[in-house]
Amino acid sequence: MSNENRVALVTGASRGIGAAIAERLAADGHTVVINYAGRAGEAEALAAKIEKAGGHALTAQADVSDPQAVARMWDAAEAAFGGVDVLVNNAGVMRLATLAEADDALVDGQIAINLKGPINTMRLAARRLREGGRIINLSSSVVGLYQPTYGVYAATKAGIEALTHVLARELRGRNITVNAVAPGPTATALFLDGKPQQAVDALAKLAPLERLGQPEDIANTVAFLAGPDGGWINGQVLRANGGII
Ligand SMILES: NC(=O)c1ccc[n+]([C@@H]2O[C@H](COP(=O)([O-])OP(=O)(O)OC[C@H]3O[C@@H](n4cnc5c(N)ncnc54)[C@H](OP(=O)(O)O)[C@@H]3O)[C@@H](O)[C@H]2O)c1
Repeated sequence: MSNENRVALVTGASRGIGAAIAERLAADGHTVVINYAGRAGEAEALAAKIEKAGGHALTAQADVSDPQAVARMWDAAEAAFGGVDVLVNNAGVMRLATLAEADDALVDGQIAINLKGPINTMRLAARRLREGGRIINLSSSVVGLYQPTYGVYAATKAGIEALTHVLARELRGRNITVNAVAPGPTATALFLDGKPQQAVDALAKLAPLERLGQPEDIANTVAFLAGPDGGWINGQVLRANGGII
């Protein structure tokens, strides 16, 4: 298996970890579909950067929590490239609050994007991903760390890990692997926004490697699972976190 002629759809790829994954998969030879929700300009700029470097990319706006929008995106990817081989469920949001303080908007928003979103894409992938395909879901090392205020977010990610195990088994006979990558604290807006520098520094020091993850650290891990060397890994959760847990 080579990455050439393979098509990878990366959700939430307009910035952060998703953008690094799209760029890396393109450099590895995949044609990439850059999904985004709101940041069209950033998605277009990433597509242009990939094309300039000799890769192939298409942008696709879709709110992953909307099943119809996801179906239209999948149709567009198939129409443009003939099929999809790799699905990376990266789109996600994080809003922190104790359970006592969690309002409906916080609960419903995270469940819609972090849990229903990947369900929307995975059920299409289960029907339409090409033989030999790969599904890679972004979980989080908060599943395991269980810090206060992370409850609802961690619950959506625990759900993703359960779905990863179940879908890996449901796809028996299709030569499709399903895995999750669970980053620790990674230097993106999702992690950094709203945190005092002192809290960021403390979290950075928690892992034995004593630094924050970078989006490229996570992209490297996803690229391994998406590429030829990752073919024997199936139904697993790979924590990419510098050893924080
Ligand atoms: N950063 C961390 O420390 C960390 C740790 C563990 C796990 N993770 C997980 O890694 C993934 C990426 O996180 P990140 O840190 O890169 O976040 P980020 O910088 O905030 O980027 C999030 C991306 O998701 C997209 N997105 C948000 N809602 C969407 C929706 N409804 N439909 C489609 N796309 C949507 C955003 O698109 P627009 O900007 O275009 O709206 C953006 O491209 C998430 O699943 C997150 O839970 C992150």
